[in-house]
Amino acid sequence: MNITEIRPGIRYVGVNDRTTHLFEGLWPLPCGVSYNAYLVVGERVALIDTVEASFGERLERNIRREIGDRPIDYLVINHMEPDHSSSIAALRRIWPDMRIVSNAKALDMLRGFYGIETETQEIREGDTLDLGGKTLSFHMAPMVHWPETMVTWCPEEKTLFSGDAFGTFGALDGGITDSQIDPARYWDEMRRYYAAIVGKYGAPVQKALAKVRPLAPETICSTHGPVWQREIPAVLDLYDRMSRYEGEPGAVIAYGSMYGNTEQMAERIARELAEAGVRNIVVHNLSTADPSAVLRDVFRYDTLVVGSPTYNGALYPPVAQLLEMIAARCVPHRRFAVFGSFCWASAAVRCLSEFTQRLKWELACDPMEMKQGYTDEKCDPSRELARRLAERIIR
Ligand code: FEO
Repeated sequence: MNITEIRPGIRYVGVNDRTTHLFEGLWPLPCGVSYNAYLVVGERVALIDTVEASFGERLERNIRREIGDRPIDYLVINHMEPDHSSSIAALRRIWPDMRIVSNAKALDMLRGFYGIETETQEIREGDTLDLGGKTLSFHMAPMVHWPETMVTWCPEEKTLFSGDAFGTFGALDGGITDSQIDPARYWDEMRRYYAAIVGKYGAPVQKALAKVRPLAPETICSTHGPVWQREIPAVLDLYDRMSRYEGEPGAVIAYGSMYGNTEQMAERIARELAEAGVRNIVVHNLSTADPSAVLRDVFRYDTLVVGSPTYNGALYPPVAQLLEMIAARCVPHRRFAVFGSFCWASAAVRCLSEFTQRLKWELACDPMEMKQGYTDEKCDPSRELARRLAERIIR
C-alpha cells in the first residue's frame, strides 16, 4: 500500500507550506504547516477540503497521482477559512462538473469569497452522501473554528475528517500517519495551534468532542498535521483538557522589562518557586517571546505570574497585549499572581489587579511592587509569593 493510502480508498493529497512566516499573519511557523486534503475513492470520488491557493498546482498533481484521469465527483467543504478553501475556484476550472457539498453557511461563504454558486449541494446535520462502496455523513461542529465548520464521517473506514479540530502546526516531514513518524515533536505544536487558533472556543470544542467520541474513530484526518490513528486517545485527551482550560501543575512567569529591573523580579520569583519545589516553570520575556508560545504555556499550566513596569501611566505594551490575548480566549481561571515596578508613579500593579477583576479571576497572593532599581531586599516578598503559589501547585 502506498504511504498516501491511509485507509483503503482514503488517500492523502495535502501539501506542506515551509514558506509562510506567519500563519493568519500572526503566528510564527518555525516548522512550517501542512494543509491537508483527502480523497475518498468509491465508485465515485470525493475530495475533502483543499489547500491554500498558492499550493493549488501541487494539490492538483497529488490528486492526479492518486486517481489519474478519473474526475472528482464531489468536493466536500468542512471549513471555509482560506487556508483550506482558496484553491476551490482553480479546482472548479479544472473539474467544472465537480459538485461542491457543504452546509448553508459554508455555501454562503463560498459565494462571498469566490463568487461560486452553481453545482452546489446543501446538506444538513446527519445527511449522507453515497459514493458507491463508501459513504460520507456530515455533522456540524460550529465554531471549531468558524461558524460553518463541520466534520465528515466515513463509517466503512471508521475515519473522521475533522477540519481544524485535532490539528497542529508543523509540516509533515515525510510520514503522514502517526505510526509513520515520531509524534512527540507535534504535541507542543498542537498546544500552540490550539491556544492561538481555537483557544477561544472551549465550549464548542467540548460539544464537538461529545459528537466525535461515540463514533469511536480509528482514523482522524485533520486539516493540519499528522493523521491520527495510534495516538487518538492522547489527542482526544489533550483537546479535552485544553477545551476545559484545565492546567497541569506548573507556572508561567510572563514579564516585560525595559532596563532589566522587572526582569530581575521575574528571575527572583522563578528561583523562589524552584526553591519551593515547583519543577515546571516557564519564563517568557514578552518583548522577545512568540505570543503563541506564551499562550501555549498559559493553556498548559495552572499558574500564571505576570509582571510589568509602569509605562505611560499604564502597562508595558507587550504585557497589555498578552492580557488582551488571554481575555479574548475567555480563559476562565488560572492561579494568578502579579508584580510590577515604577519609577515615579505606580500604575502597572493597579492595571494588573484590574485585569484580574475583569476576568473574574482571583489573586493568589498580594501583588509585589518595586520602586526604581532592583535589589534583593526589595524583592524579599517574592519568597512569600512563591511559597503561597507552590503549596497549591505541588499536589
Ligand atoms: Fe486551518 Fe480555521 O483554518
